[in-house]
Amino acid sequence: MTPVHPAGPRLALREVEPEDAEALLAIYGDPEATRHLSFEPRTPAQVELIIDRSIGSAREDPRTEYCLAVTRLGEHRLIGYARLATEPQQAATIGFALHPAEWGKGLGTETVHLLCALAFNTLGLHRIWAARSPLNEASARTLLRAGMTEDGRIRDHVFVRGAWRDSITYSILEHEWTAIDGLKTSPGPGA
Ligand SMILES: CC(C)(COP(=O)(O)OP(=O)(O)OC[C@H]1O[C@@H](n2cnc3c(N)ncnc32)[C@H](O)[C@@H]1OP(=O)(O)O)[C@@H](O)C(=O)NCCC(=O)NCCS
Repeated sequence: MTPVHPAGPRLALREVEPEDAEALLAIYGDPEATRHLSFEPRTPAQVELIIDRSIGSAREDPRTEYCLAVTRLGEHRLIGYARLATEPQQAATIGFALHPAEWGKGLGTETVHLLCALAFNTLGLHRIWAARSPLNEASARTLLRAGMTEDGRIRDHVFVRGAWRDSITYSILEHEWTAIDGLKTSPGPGA
């Protein structure tokens, strides 16, 4: 396994650990934090499974999934969860969520930059994309602020809370991304 640990001015990403379950439940079990996500609030047992799968995916070779803890720089506590899953054609999809106590401080934008750093600097990808609920205004602003471009709408993309829901999608290409000051990235898997 090649651990990845991109870091920015205020945040870092690290590999998920079994001890992260409680902190992840505070996000994924929270109705407000999951309001616009593609699933209903998770139970403690479901969060344990997510932790297990995150740790398992880090051991796969080749690795296609990076399910990472978002922490304050220099601290260990999980305050967010960020995921990058690679696809063919040097692409990847990203997702992220922060604890509600951390919203509104620019940390969502920094999280997207850290995922861009992982994608473009560490993994050498060409394109990453994200999908949000049409009602998720915070995600829309965050993705645009990080430099992504709105691509369009996937109709009936996810079935959640008993109904089909469209997604609005965003992407960014490697040459479009402008790193923020203070970003540090780990070497690629082959390094
Ligand atoms: C989306 C999320 C990560 C944003 O995190 P954040 O740290 O609050 O975002 P930032 O502080 O970096 O703000 C980025 C932009 O979004 C705007 N924004 C943040 N919350 C907002 C809200 N509730 N409504 C409207 N705009 C909002 C900010 O004003 C800022 O815009 P600006 O730079 O144009 O002024 C956070 O709300 C979250 O974790 N939500 C739950 C999970 C989720 O929806 N994830 C995204 C899935 S696609």
